[in-house]
Amino acid sequence: MTNRGVSLFLVLACIFVSTIASAKEKGNHHLPAVHVINALPKNSEPMSLQCGGEKMLNAGEDYQWTVEENKLVYCEAFWGRSFASWHGFQPRRDVGRGAVYWLVKDTGFFLSWDNSSWVRKQLWETE
Ligand SMILES: *[C@@H]1O[C@H](CO)[C@@H](O)[C@H](O)[C@H]1NC(C)=O
Repeated sequence: MTNRGVSLFLVLACIFVSTIASAKEKGNHHLPAVHVINALPKNSEPMSLQCGGEKMLNAGEDYQWTVEENKLVYCEAFWGRSFASWHGFQPRRDVGRGAVYWLVKDTGFFLSWDNSSWVRKQLWETE
């Protein structure tokens, strides 16, 4: 092979290897979308949600984002005089799930992976 031929071969080989590496990395993590659904009473005041950034959520709204790193996402919510904190995404619990749903009601925070069967994981606190 000529020098140019060798260089071209090396460039193509690098592209091939890095494509495979990045495909593998994405496949290994299975990072889900996280939904936080405000199911508080209609016409009640909006809830402030903090999972990295701050977001105001009206009753009925579904806020969602895709987890980008396989690490804990800590969330806090404030609603009137009530507040709560929980793990919006927890690697050991949630990795490999297609989606993580949080239903926020006045009775607490309910987790589901299928948007259909719910388990309460957290309660509201007041001072
Ligand atoms: C979750 O379920 C509710 C009630 O069945 C439905 O209105 C909503 O669209 C679903 N959300 C998603 C993201 O599938």
